[in-house]
Amino acid sequence: MGTENKEAWGSRIGLVLAMAGNAVGLGNFLRFPAQAVQNGGGAFIIPYLVCFVLMGLPLLYVEWAMGRHAGNRGHHSTPFIFGAMHKHSFWKYAGVLGLFISIGICAYYTYIEAWTLSWAYHSAMGHFMGMSQDQVAAFFKNYVALGTSEPIMVWVLCVALNTWILSRGLQGGVEMAAKIGMPLLLLFGVVLAFRGVTLTAGSHGAVNSGLLGLNFLWTPNFSSIWDPVVWRNAAGQIFFTLSLGMGSIHCYASYVKCKDDIALNAMSAGWMNEFVEVVLGSAIIIPIAVGYLGVDKVVEMTKGGSGFGIGFMTLPYLFTQWGPALSALSGIMWFGLLFFAGITSSLAMGTPVMAFMEDEFGWKRRNGALFFGAAVLLLGIPSVLSQEAFNEFDYWAGTIALVVFSLLEIILFAWVFGMEKGWKEITAGADMKVPIAFKYVIKYVTPVFLLIVFVGSLPEVWATLTKPVTFQVALARGLMVALFAGLSGLVWLAGRKKVTI
Ligand code: ALA
Repeated sequence: MGTENKEAWGSRIGLVLAMAGNAVGLGNFLRFPAQAVQNGGGAFIIPYLVCFVLMGLPLLYVEWAMGRHAGNRGHHSTPFIFGAMHKHSFWKYAGVLGLFISIGICAYYTYIEAWTLSWAYHSAMGHFMGMSQDQVAAFFKNYVALGTSEPIMVWVLCVALNTWILSRGLQGGVEMAAKIGMPLLLLFGVVLAFRGVTLTAGSHGAVNSGLLGLNFLWTPNFSSIWDPVVWRNAAGQIFFTLSLGMGSIHCYASYVKCKDDIALNAMSAGWMNEFVEVVLGSAIIIPIAVGYLGVDKVVEMTKGGSGFGIGFMTLPYLFTQWGPALSALSGIMWFGLLFFAGITSSLAMGTPVMAFMEDEFGWKRRNGALFFGAAVLLLGIPSVLSQEAFNEFDYWAGTIALVVFSLLEIILFAWVFGMEKGWKEITAGADMKVPIAFKYVIKYVTPVFLLIVFVGSLPEVWATLTKPVTFQVALARGLMVALFAGLSGLVWLAGRKKVTI
């Protein structure tokens, strides 16, 4: 098995853009600025950069190396990528997490993508003009309220669009989407960031300059450096933003040829994500919101570390201060940017599942894509209907599972497969010199770092598990358990030779 899948990247630029698109997502523009505000502004960047160097970069090397290694043996999904690193069946089942996470995240992530499409449309049509801030917020709350059909219809459309692009394959679908989406995203991002930092007090009703917001974000508050929660949040942001521990980087890298570089590619995509996150991500929502509402209000609105409140309920109102034409244009750019960021990431999450069905069961690409779309629709229903279920998927599939998966993969790579062989994998065909220090960081520092993050999250996991739950939470958890069990069953079936389904 695993020999029928003959997909390949069309070009190096296509691969790097697709990988960068995988990483650059909603997390860069909505989650990062809110996390930075909530975790001490400028102080957050120190733990964030430490986590990037000691955890982010090493895991990027590891995931790319594992992907290319197994891809050249005909496997493109993490159960069998892990299986190609060591034959004990424990690893194959540990790799199920990669499929679980990508489908689990997509189940709610595509729903947010749908919001961005709707909000781009409402901005273009001028529907926010003349509304007060409270009215825009109420418009959003009504939109996501139970029983409204627009978000559900747009969500189904969004999942169908993802499925269609995936069914066109790596070059004609994913790579093409990245080549269109990423340049537009960068263009929109730069224009909006320019607008954010050049906003001056007194113009268009702003009471502060945008730079006040930027200063607020980057003025260090060193006291929070000693707070373990800040470190945990910084680590969580690094995982989410780089799409680490999700199985999607492995999958994309598994289509790289054995002699081709991975080291420089991994760094290009990783650093591009950091540029978009740290430079553009912090120069849009916070400066604009602080310009109009002041620092205290922005701190209050980002409580919980989410930028949804500002991104969807406030910015459309603030854009209307710039007049009808600029308001429509800014809304299209802001929500268009979010849409491109979102879809290039959800496509990456769809690819492993599709590859799994193609490799291990000989399915056609189109059927693999349909399987993914159907799974996302089924699993997404609770998140669409209930905020609690949404949060539950985000917590287990989008937060905790990433840490567990990353811990397992680094142990597999550095200790089971072995660091000597692992280092050869990372440096083979490399178009840059990978600093030798990473060999030791990957072997010793990153696993310890991940272990600390994992152990540190256990009390909270325990508290979450032992709290009484509502029906929606129980349903979300039940679905996640069923997803993991179902995927494990498929891996078991695939392991038995000549089984076709
Ligand atoms: N890396 C993607 C994001 O930041 C998942 O949204």
